[in-house]
Parts: sequence; structure tokens; C-alpha cells
Amino acid sequence: MSDPYLTESETLLRKTIRDFVDRELAPNASSYDLNEEFPSTIIKKLSELGFFGLTIDTNYGGTAGSTTQLAILTEELARGCASTAVIFASHLSLCTKYIDLFGSDGQKRSYLPGLINASTIGAFALSEPDAGSDAVAIKTTVSDIDNGFLINGTKHFITNGREAGIIIVIATRDTNLGSKGMESFIIEVPASGLTITPQKGKMGIRASSTCELHFNNVFVPFDNRIGKPGAGFEMTMRILDIGRILIAAQSVGIAQMALESSINYSKTRTAFGSAISDFQAIQTMLANMATEVEAARLLTYRSASLLDAQLPFETTASMAKLFASKVAVESADKALQIHGGAGYFAPNIAERLYRDAKVTQIYEGTSEIQRIIIARKLLED
Ligand code: CAA
Repeated sequence: MSDPYLTESETLLRKTIRDFVDRELAPNASSYDLNEEFPSTIIKKLSELGFFGLTIDTNYGGTAGSTTQLAILTEELARGCASTAVIFASHLSLCTKYIDLFGSDGQKRSYLPGLINASTIGAFALSEPDAGSDAVAIKTTVSDIDNGFLINGTKHFITNGREAGIIIVIATRDTNLGSKGMESFIIEVPASGLTITPQKGKMGIRASSTCELHFNNVFVPFDNRIGKPGAGFEMTMRILDIGRILIAAQSVGIAQMALESSINYSKTRTAFGSAISDFQAIQTMLANMATEVEAARLLTYRSASLLDAQLPFETTASMAKLFASKVAVESADKALQIHGGAGYFAPNIAERLYRDAKVTQIYEGTSEIQRIIIARKLLED
């Protein structure tokens, strides 16, 4: 029986991706995590299935489709491996989508096909050592030179930085201009003057790389500026609005696996002469997890379907990310509690989910930033 909330094609997509994840991704997730290994085989297969073209213009090789499909796909990937989900989401929603929505025809022709077949991995560089939540405060500069621009500065916490062949970089022409001074560029990697250094010691999502990028007079051809001068901040905010739906979906996937692994473990683990699933203390945790995961999923799908219907979706996307990331963290905590001592030692699924969940409350806008966005909307005249 299909879910009445989803269309037939969305239901089929979920089944296809779930089968793939259960067969090929989930069994290897722990090893990707422990070895901090980029899941190249999986990325290649996802591209062969056409998933990197979802919601992207068919004139440039995209497969169109809906944001709801994208959310389902991201959720199912995260259910098997949260790292793979963020690699996928950063590549598609922060890099490919940036060019798809705001790039020129030439930029789309040059860059979208490689991003869609994932022969080129995409990254997005906004955050800096002194500018995370306060995105207007970036200090990476752009200046003019014959035939193009020079970029100078440092970006950090850049997902996919180690593998990226293309990076969308946000820079400021003049910090005194605030958000109106920002511009966005497509940088091809390797680039002379660009140093990329993986950042070590990450708590979770360890199969995805997180890097510092140092720009020392990096030349960008004139044709690689995206959009108009001064439009960089607004384009970036619009991209993050969409990206937050996918981080909400990633959170739902993490929470869903926390629930499933807890159900399975509690049925097999015995204590005091019976399976621990017989105890109401465990049942209460499972019931709360299941209810919260379902609520987070519905809010996430709602934000995706608002975007698909071209209705205002931004506040709902922030609500979805705020709520779903909280559910991911709390569900992973309950899963670890249910797994007990076994869950505290790697490799154990509860241990990995616990570490993977936390960052969903931090990247693509912390929970505090989501609350600011939601409250501003509630209070606007
Ligand atoms: N869409 C369109 N325009 C927007 C917008 C949006 N969502 N949000 C703001 N703007 C416009 C405003 O209208 C305003 O324009 P005017 O000056 O013409 O009125 C301009 O941009 C400046 O906006 P604000 O005054 O609202 O700016 P602010 O300094 O108060 O900051 C903020 C707004 C929402 C807090 C923003 O700084 C923000 O989103 N911060 C979080 C940054 C973030 O999410 N970083 C994530 C990094 S990427 C990442 O994490 C990827 C990864 O690893 C996976």
C-alpha cells in the first residue's frame, strides 16, 4: 500500500533508493566512517541512477523532478550513511543548484554536465574563521584585474573541499558595503594560489571531507562571476533556504535509523529474563522516537512541497531544519541509551548516529539562526 502523502513516483523512488542503500551503502557506512573514506563507488552509482540531476534544468542534462523527491533521496541516504547524504546535499543543493538557478547560459553549459554526472564534485565556500552565523562579516576579498578577478582570504569548514573540482566562493568587494558588497564566483580546482587543507578531528560525518581553503591571489576569469555585482548575499541566502530542506531530510534519515536500530536491538537484547522491548521504559522511548520522526518528516516534506508549488517556503524550511535536527540528536541519544554499553563502543550504529547527528544543529545555519529567521517572519509588519 502506498503512502497517500506521496505520489506514486515518489513512493517508487523511496523504494528504489532504500533497496540500494540497504544493499550497497548501509553495510559499508561504518567502514567509511572509521577510515574517513569518501564513498566514491556509491557516488558513481548515484550518478548513474541520475540522482545528481534531480531538480536541475533538463536543457543542461538535469533530470528535473521535485524537491520532495530530493528530500526523500537525502533522507534515505542519511538513513544508511549520514556522510553520504551531506556529500550529496552539498554537491547538489549548494553548488550545482547555485549554477542552475543563478548561472549564465555559458556557465551552465560549462559546469552543469560534469556536476550532474558527478565526474566533478562540487563544494560551496561561505564560512570563514571569523564569519559563521554572521555571514555578512566575511573578509575574503575580490578585486579587479585584467580579464577577471583576484580572490584573497581564508574559508573553513568547507564540505567536499578535498574532492571538489568546482567551488562556489562568496567574497566581498568592500566590507563597508555589508551584504551589498558580496559577489559569487565559480572556481575551478586546482587553481594557482589555492591551498586546500583537510580539517582533522571531526566528531561525526567523517566520511565527508571538511577543509580549510586559503586563497592567495587566486585568479578567476571574468566569465566566472555568478550574477550581478552585489547580488552574492541574496543568491547565497536563497540557496541556503533550499539547502536547509535537505539538512532537515538528512536529520530525518538519521533519526529513522536511530529508531529502526533501537527496535531491532531491543527485540534481541535480553535482561531480567526477557527481551528489553518488553519493558515499558524502552517502549516509551521507541514510541516517542517514532512520533517525533514522523512529525519531523511531515514538516520536511511540507517545506519541500511548498517550494515545489512555488509558494513561500523559507520559514517552513527553517522550522523543518530546527525541528528535524533536534529530533535527530534526541533520537540518536535515545538509541545510544537503548544500546547501552554496546552502543558506547565503535563500531556500533548507535555510536555513529550519536556523533553524526549533532552537526545537523550547526551547519547550514545553527538552530539559533533558524529561530532568528522564524521569529523575524512572525514579527514582520
Ligand atoms: N532570501 C533573499 N534575501 C535575503 C534572505 C533570503 N533568505 N535573507 C536575507 N536576505 C537579504 C535581506 O532582505 C537584506 O536585503 P536588504 O538589505 O535589501 O533589505 C540582506 O539580504 C541582508 O539581510 P539581513 O539584514 O537579514 O542580514 P543579517 O546580517 O541580519 O543576517 C542571517 C541574516 C539570516 C542571520 C544570515 O547571516 C544567515 O543565514 N546566517 C547563517 C549562515 C549559514 O547558514 N551558514 C552556513 C554555511 S554553509 C554550510 O554550513 C554548508 C555545509 O557545511 C554543509
